[in-house]
Amino acid sequence: MKFFIDTANLNQIKEAQNLGILDGVTTNPSLMAKEGITGKENILDHYSKICNIVDGDVSAEVIATDFENIIIEGEELANINPQIVIKLPMTHDGIKATKYFSNKGIKTNVTLIFSAGQALLAAKAGATYVSPFLGRLDDISTDGLNLISEIREIFDNYNFQTHILAASIRHTMHIIDCAKIGADVITSPLSSISGLLNHPLTDIGLEKFLSDYKKGNK
Ligand code: G3P
Repeated sequence: MKFFIDTANLNQIKEAQNLGILDGVTTNPSLMAKEGITGKENILDHYSKICNIVDGDVSAEVIATDFENIIIEGEELANINPQIVIKLPMTHDGIKATKYFSNKGIKTNVTLIFSAGQALLAAKAGATYVSPFLGRLDDISTDGLNLISEIREIFDNYNFQTHILAASIRHTMHIIDCAKIGADVITSPLSSISGLLNHPLTDIGLEKFLSDYKKGNK
């Protein structure tokens, strides 16, 4: 299972990379805006900085919504670095562009997936990744994990090579449940990844080991 971090914050990306568990990065226009990254040149430069920190795939999302401009923007993003994965919206033109990039051997991530049918269509178009949004479904009282299970079953039935990238992760249990279901990748805020480190019995156990060591080594 691969771990991606879902942020455009360079310090958090460095922290996850330094922990030694990071396989890639996903961003979106909201996350770029949160870091105050605006203007085309700054945005391209920021993606380049992210690629220099991590070894794996870096999803960069297009803003265009019509086929022609998605292609122009996507090719511009893909030219930044071979690590760049073009993130495309789950729309008619987004799917058409996914097929176009797939034919050219350029990696894609189809985002804003909220149904198994959308994931199936994206896989048919040759998407490298599909991004079902787990947390946003949970937010509206719909079982986000069930969607991941449905997509897993469909992809396994037909041996689709498209990777399930579970997105909109809100807490550590989402990560654990995605691992049980067999999501290929999770993309998560650093806080949920760091949360996996913690258990009170680990802290209590370590404290006891160290105090016993001190008693015997005065
Ligand atoms: O990057 C896509 C997705 O992970 C966004 O998550 O928390 O805004 O629903 P969230």
